[in-house]
Amino acid sequence: MGRQFFVGGNFKMNGTIKSITDIVHHLNSAPLDPKTEVVIAPPGLFLLLVREHLKSEIEVCSQNVFDKPNGAFTGEISAEQLKDSKVGWALCGHSERRVVLKEQDDFVASKTKAALDGGLGVILCCGETLEQRESNKTIEVVTTQLKAIAEKTKDWTKIVIAYEPVWAIGTGKVATTQQAQEVHAAIRKWLTEEVSKEAAEATRIIYGGSVSEKNCKELAKEGDIDGFLVGGASLKPAFVDIINAQQ
Ligand code: G3P
Repeated sequence: MGRQFFVGGNFKMNGTIKSITDIVHHLNSAPLDPKTEVVIAPPGLFLLLVREHLKSEIEVCSQNVFDKPNGAFTGEISAEQLKDSKVGWALCGHSERRVVLKEQDDFVASKTKAALDGGLGVILCCGETLEQRESNKTIEVVTTQLKAIAEKTKDWTKIVIAYEPVWAIGTGKVATTQQAQEVHAAIRKWLTEEVSKEAAEATRIIYGGSVSEKNCKELAKEGDIDGFLVGGASLKPAFVDIINAQQ
């Protein structure tokens, strides 16, 4: 069986009760490709609101998760709490958290493990900066980020890998189909060698970074691009066109 196309919407720290409710209503009534798995990640404050009003075919994702089950950790949310709230996914390793909040590989791995142990799916982000790409370190950087996860878990069945080159995020500078496909293929090769052939075949590797309704169809044609993680465009009606990129 082929890999199911996967489109995630990462709203980041955007939206109000009104604007997010509007997005939910739009998604509820839009014609969405039933072959695409759709997951949206609103700001934490709105997770319950979205889960309550969004149709059940679309899953909800937390933009963050902590690596402990409960306790004195001010401001954090656990996998158990997310699961209890019917939020089935968590984002881990987003470059904005790696860069702005200084999250290191081992912390990202620990959070990923906690989310998986708590029964959540994980959208695991990886990607290189412009400087790293220009010094030919892309594959080394990405596989080092993934290796930290492989050291903590052998089970990749609930992980979706999002390759997001940092230089393409929010810049309007999308990776070329060739650049994205090249890295996705390298990630799949790494999965074959370091995890298993089964994991390499089954794991969805999605692309993120300035995906729009204009460039998604070309990217979706590549053999190793199994979907998208969308930032800015996920807040717009055009998100539906990205969900339907394979039609
Ligand atoms: O997580 C999605 C992301 O970082 C890409 O953002 O705005 O470039 O689509 P954007």
